[in-house]
Amino acid sequence: MRDDILIREARIRDAPHIKRLWQRVFNDTDEVIGAFFEVYIDVRLCVLAQIGGRLAGLGLLLPVGDFVTQQSATQCAMLYALATEPEFRGLGCASLITRELLRVGKKHGFGLIALRPASDALFDFYGKNGFYETFYCREYTVKASALKKTVQNVPGIALTRASPEEYLARRELLLRGVPHIAFDRRALAFQARLSPGGGLFFAGDGCAAIEATGQPGGRVLISELLGADEGAIIAAVADAFPANEYLVRAPVRKAESEITRFGMASAETMGAYMGFTFG
Ligand SMILES: CC(C)(COP(=O)(O)OP(=O)(O)OC[C@H]1O[C@@H](n2cnc3c(N)ncnc32)[C@H](O)[C@@H]1OP(=O)(O)O)[C@@H](O)C(=O)NCCC(=O)NCCS
Repeated sequence: MRDDILIREARIRDAPHIKRLWQRVFNDTDEVIGAFFEVYIDVRLCVLAQIGGRLAGLGLLLPVGDFVTQQSATQCAMLYALATEPEFRGLGCASLITRELLRVGKKHGFGLIALRPASDALFDFYGKNGFYETFYCREYTVKASALKKTVQNVPGIALTRASPEEYLARRELLLRGVPHIAFDRRALAFQARLSPGGGLFFAGDGCAAIEATGQPGGRVLISELLGADEGAIIAAVADAFPANEYLVRAPVRKAESEITRFGMASAETMGAYMGFTFG
């Protein structure tokens, strides 16, 4: 760990530098980064690392709603956009930023900080810096060809677009009894804005969030599927978004062994469900 790394909370005038580093590391468009700043970024929730007067790294917290269990609800933020300038990697910047964000989060009243590691290998990095494996899901792929065989001759259900408020209300009903992040209206509206070709939908008694619609014939990401009849909901998605295959994420069901680790949290909690990641 280098001893000349300065860790500090960001100030308004850091915004252009933050945007440039974000762009270089994540390759997001100006439009996406601009939307984050317009809707979400509060510089008081952003931590920077400086080396020799230069911006070396950043990380921030996005307030997303409440972490809800059967016993309690606590304000929750997502640790997001952790990034170190390539020439300053391996020196300890991101570790220091992560730990400082835990302190900043506590100071601002967040009972839980959650995150989704960008890769499986990063679970270890966050594990060393105060986070615990907490969020799980079922992730599976359905080929369009298999889908047609399965739902043949079964009366289908249709997909209808839901507003963030409508989706939120149904989501909470369908997740009753499951420890989860109850995203707030702003978080859901922003998630929908990040998926312009997709969005939030009702299908029968269930609901589905479509994030990546891809090219015709490609793959569609159903980043959240809630409802008893998953096959019927996927068929409804397939009618509206034709593709070769569908990558589906859904909450873990009791007694199911096929689970994928999905995210981490700043407190040791029993398995929980996250859903959206602003990815
Ligand atoms: C991930 C990242 C933020 C780490 O920044 P950093 O300042 O180099 O991290 P640190 O110096 O504090 O920690 C380095 C440690 O992280 C590990 N690490 C860094 N990148 C990693 C990766 N992609 N996968 C697994 N481990 C990684 C290193 O192996 C090292 O481990 P060690 O301490 O056991 O030797 C940086 O590589 C980066 O900006 N990556 C691209 C953006 C990204 O993926 N951000 C994470 C979003 S969840």
